[in-house]
Parts: sequence; C-alpha cells; structure tokens
Amino acid sequence: MEISERLIDLLRNKAKTAVLTGAGISAESGVPTFRGNDGLWNKFNPMELASIDAFMENPKLVWEWYLFRRDVINKVKPNRGHEILVEMEKYLPEFTLITQNVDNLHREAGSENVIELHGNIKRNKCLNCGAPMDDMDIDPENVPTCDCGGQIRPDVVWFGEMLPEGAIETSQQKTVESDLFFSIGTSAEVYPAAQLPVIAQRSGAYLVEINLTPTPLTQLADEAFSGKSGEILPMIWQAVLEREND
Ligand code: OAD
Repeated sequence: MEISERLIDLLRNKAKTAVLTGAGISAESGVPTFRGNDGLWNKFNPMELASIDAFMENPKLVWEWYLFRRDVINKVKPNRGHEILVEMEKYLPEFTLITQNVDNLHREAGSENVIELHGNIKRNKCLNCGAPMDDMDIDPENVPTCDCGGQIRPDVVWFGEMLPEGAIETSQQKTVESDLFFSIGTSAEVYPAAQLPVIAQRSGAYLVEINLTPTPLTQLADEAFSGKSGEILPMIWQAVLEREND
C-alpha cells in the first residue's frame, strides 16, 4: 500500500485535521454495519425500528431492538483504528473527531473530544422533555417514564429527527477550517454527515478516504485507501512516526 508524501507531510506538519467516521471503523470490533450484504438495514426495516412513529406505535419492539444492539456493543472493544485516532488527537493540536456511530467506542478507546452526530446508544433520554436519564434498567414490557410523564427512549437520532443541538454546526465549522479531512468507514450516504467530506474538499482540505468498498466519495477523494481501517490507519501512522525519527 502506498501512502503519499503529501499525506505524511500534512500530518507531520500538524495540519488542522478533521475526521468523520462511520460504522465501518467499528466493524473489526464486531459491531454490524448498516448497509451492504451483512448490514443491519439489509435484514431489518429502519422505519419500523428507528423512527419516532415506530416508537409511538410499538415502544416494546423499538426498545427490544436497542437493548439487543446495546448488548452487542457492551461485549466489544475498540480496535486499532479507534486507537490510532486517539494517537492522532494527542499528536495534532487541532484535531476534530466527528462520528456517526452511537457505539461509544471512540470514547472507550480514549478519544477525548468526540462529536456524536447520531447520539449514543448507551444513554437514555426523555421522549418529552429531553432530560438525560442514564443508568436506568429498561423493561421493554413496561417502559419507564420521566418525572414529566414522557417515556424514556434511547438517546440516538432516529430517521427524520434533528441532530443534537450544535453538533452539525460545530462539525461544519471544523470541517471548513480543516486542511486535512479523513472519511473513514462510512458509506457517505446519510446526510447531513455525508456532506462534510465534500464541504472539506471544496474549502481546500486534502480529502482522504479509508473504506473497504467504493463509495460516492472514492472518485472525489484526493487519496483513497481500499481496505480495513484497523489495518490502514496503523500503516499511515507508522509512516508518520518513522519520518519523525529520520
Ligand atoms: P454504513 O453501514 O452505511 O457504511 C459502512 C461503511 O463501512 C461501508 O461503506 C463499508 O464498506 C465500510 N466498511 C466496512 N467494514 C470496514 C472496515 N473494516 N474498514 C473500513 N471500512 C469498512 O454505515 P454509516 O456510513 O456509518 O444512522 O451509516 C450512516 C448512518 O446510517 C448510521 O449512523 C445510521 C444509519 O442509518 C442512524 O441510525 C441515524
């Protein structure tokens, strides 16, 4: 695998960097992705499980789905891809990590500043007033309620919902300011996240993609790596560190 001098230089010179991750970065940890042959949305209908209408109609089914996914996520650990992004955050003074993942694995790996565009599956909130409701046992047969009377729901973004306040605005700002932008393990199909790599490149950033399969970004990217993020990120990082020692 060839890594361009340009990319190594940008990292060595501590370019302002922003990173967008998607389900692919957690695939090597054992978290299923959404699209593709083995993707969750290939087997399940998102509108029946991940929408406000679905929850209003059948909170038990929706909660069972999220408790099942929580259970999967509770059993997995961050992988080398997550770990390299922790290294990058320590090395680069201006570094922004934006994720579409709800699995909390970036934080578990040790990333400190993470913009979670689609929320976090480990947290709960009130459907009505939005108050955070953590550390609560959920019985899907009897969904608990907040003091205000609203039902408790997972703190994730469902189809048709707004992103968490400020999350996309901050992401866009950091994207525009970046000189280097990585799109990692995302199919780049879900907006507004999918806009970010395009905005980055239009604003002058060097756009790098890491993905197992081609996406709408692959042709556009200044540099596209085809393979697993848990293997490619360590290779890029090793090349940067080797140059440090030159
Ligand atoms: P997708 O499932 O759409 O895409 C995952 C991407 O990761 C695909 O392009 C795969 O080729 C790639 N991939 C798989 N394994 C990989 C690996 N080891 N290394 C690198 N790439 C790999 O997931 P997202 O793009 O994250 O939203 O999906 C975006 C949103 O759609 C999700 O946040 C979720 C979903 O509906 C909500 O729930 C709101």
